[in-house]
Amino acid sequence: MLDKFNREINYLRVSITDRCNLHCTYCRPKEGISLQGHEDILRYEEIIRIVSIAVGMGLVKVRVTGGEPLVRRGFVDFIAALKKINGLKDVSLTTNGILLEEFARDIFDAGICRINISLDSLNKDKYFRITNGGNLDAVLRGIARAEEIGFSPIKINTVAIKGFNDNEVLDFAQLAVNKPFQVRFIELMPVGQANSGYSEDYMPATQLIQKISERYELEQLKDKKNKSDGPAKIFKIKGGRGEIGFINPVSDYFCSTCNRLRLTSDGKLRVCLLKEEEVDLKKALRENCSDTELEKLIREAILLKPKQHDLICTEMHLKKCYRNMSAIGG
Ligand code: GTP
Ligand code: 5AD
Repeated sequence: MLDKFNREINYLRVSITDRCNLHCTYCRPKEGISLQGHEDILRYEEIIRIVSIAVGMGLVKVRVTGGEPLVRRGFVDFIAALKKINGLKDVSLTTNGILLEEFARDIFDAGICRINISLDSLNKDKYFRITNGGNLDAVLRGIARAEEIGFSPIKINTVAIKGFNDNEVLDFAQLAVNKPFQVRFIELMPVGQANSGYSEDYMPATQLIQKISERYELEQLKDKKNKSDGPAKIFKIKGGRGEIGFINPVSDYFCSTCNRLRLTSDGKLRVCLLKEEEVDLKKALRENCSDTELEKLIREAILLKPKQHDLICTEMHLKKCYRNMSAIGG
């Protein structure tokens, strides 16, 4: 599946629900969020059909996201069904970890061994604040359980927020020293809820790298382990068991190597995280479209992919994305 700019599109992020058991301040407001109803979201069979068709077109990698994917009933059977799709090489999951202790074994047995866990603070009170009520201990127990079961890699996603977790950067680095995890800092993007106070909250990765380098010796890994690995720049910490990564969608965008599409929980193929263009697959599915018609819509979405997003990080030019992240899946 080549787009207009000769990029090979082979990765689909699938949001299976916009619901979440947390309300991270930058992601999903506590009040005023209109949740999609049962009929609005794609049924699992509909997602499996879309993925099967896309695999026939060249898709090799699917990441299941939310909201929080573990809150949707039946998700274990769903991932087991995804794993059975012939030709789909890689199925992985992004979770906030709250329910991971309970479901890690089932997820692993369903055939998923790669997992990414969102964790923005290692301090109990701060974690409670940023997530609007989340329990840090539950997440840490979930991560420990995942490690014990043998998930690999385990990636920790930390959104860097100035004045909130910049003083924890070395604690996160220490986590990557002690544990075989890939700890990745993500630059805050002006998406949905994160738009308010964005320019005060945003922190470029260079500042984090600077801080970490004052304490640890970092060595950038040049080659990706897997061709399908995401956009993070990965560093080994001298003497550490894990790795540190930086995902820099704002200061150093990676659009030229973008290989992905996103399927929102309400059945839209979104062609770029930071642009509003979407192709409605649910409508076609519910009008009993044929596989050929579905394939045509997927191709249409690929051809709509822009050369790059147009976020420019200066206060004057900040372009924003209005759909909340919880409805897109990161
Ligand atoms: P792997 O490398 O396969 O482990 O996955 P990943 O990094 O693609 O997945 P993950 O869900 O952990 O993504 C981390 C975050 O990086 C996303 O939620 C986004 O915030 C950011 N990100 C990932 N892909 C893109 C992208 O295409 N564009 C932009 N702007 N940000 C992205
Ligand atoms: N900017 C950067 N990352 C974000 N995420 C959610 N909202 C934003 C944002 N505005 C991250 C989550 C999770 C991943 C799926 O996306 O913290 O790790």
